Amino acid sequence: MMFNKAYSIMKSCNLSGVIENKIDDLIAKKYSQHPYSTSLKLDNIELALSQALAISQSCPYLFAGALNNLLFNCIREGRVIDKKIEATSSVSIFLSWDESGSYNKTKLLGDKALPLILNSDEFHANILKSDLRKIFKKEIVPYYSKNVAAYLKEIASALSNTNDLKRCAALLAFEIHAEIVSKVLWDKIVEIFPYIQKHELAFFELHVGENPAEELHVEMTKSMIKIVVETCLLYTSDAADE
Ligand SMILES: [Fe+2]
Repeated sequence: MMFNKAYSIMKSCNLSGVIENKIDDLIAKKYSQHPYSTSLKLDNIELALSQALAISQSCPYLFAGALNNLLFNCIREGRVIDKKIEATSSVSIFLSWDESGSYNKTKLLGDKALPLILNSDEFHANILKSDLRKIFKKEIVPYYSKNVAAYLKEIASALSNTNDLKRCAALLAFEIHAEIVSKVLWDKIVEIFPYIQKHELAFFELHVGENPAEELHVEMTKSMIKIVVETCLLYTSDAADE
């Protein structure tokens, strides 16, 4: 009965709205300014961008690989593959597909784009690499520093966690941070390199430009929270009835 009441209260007070406000409050209080906004200078921006390139390159593998690990974690723990697993998996599948550039191709050309997905020029990391060539007038290679490797390992583990809330939080945190860091990097690049115009940088235009993909990704992950958290409560409520 107590669970039923808690569920009805949270449902009636617009659960997803409450969670979104809490997330926005947390970011405003603890992370109002990204460290890059003050620390990036001419002498360290190349290093920062080569690590950003490594993270971008890892994205399709990270999201796709998380599903494999999630499956085997479920098997090991005897966890049923339910709607909550499927909801976060849908987001991971989309993100992996999108990071390969294939989503944009099929959005523009429909089925006809399928043979074109084998051309990897539009992997988001390759678009970033081409932006970096414009900025630095040389080839920048992805730098998998110790910190980047540790971050990827941690996020990969969280993305395949059978704890629904932790898995969901990892996806949301990754997307929100991607949006924030992309905006900061874009601003800092044009500040440090005055010969570069904002609109010349296709990677940033794609993610946080006029028709920003990141904003929609964050919306998608927020919808995922609604499904995962409400389903958690619904199951708890059903269990309380029995
Ligand atoms: Fe991307």
